[in-house]
Amino acid sequence: MQKWTRQNCPQKALVDAAEDALEYAYSPYSHFQVGAALLDDHGVIWSGCNIENAAFSPGTCAERTALYKAVSEGVRSFQAIAIVGRQEGEQTLTASFTTPCGVCRQVLSEFCAKKMPVYVANGADDVVEYTLNELLPHSFGPEDLS
Ligand code: THU
Repeated sequence: MQKWTRQNCPQKALVDAAEDALEYAYSPYSHFQVGAALLDDHGVIWSGCNIENAAFSPGTCAERTALYKAVSEGVRSFQAIAIVGRQEGEQTLTASFTTPCGVCRQVLSEFCAKKMPVYVANGADDVVEYTLNELLPHSFGPEDLS
């Protein structure tokens, strides 16, 4: 784990893109808006927001929206992801860090290297960088099926 300020974070543009994506969050049930931005190996940023549903369980997280957008267009190699959260109606990001949920950690691990950096930013402009492996150690992946 590494700590940065938003200004000196090596992926500041990715954090900014995650915050932009949060504007599109569809979260009428939780009122919690999440934005994610995934950087692919060609330097393209794939962004996503959470999309909730009246039936609750079909709702999906911002991270999976971003990843599925990329994978559905043939992109499977990624360098980094940034994630931010905000309470609906607030101007600033949450005080706490919005780290990916367990399902998203597993889904990311299908396509992303264990050492891929995961950046989470808060409303105080702190950024914490984890590796995917730090968030999902001892994971079950495609290699474990053989
Ligand atoms: N959510 C995300 O989109 N990503 C996360 O990392 C945590 C949770 C969404 C799911 C739901 O729409 C809302 O935040 C509240 O849990």
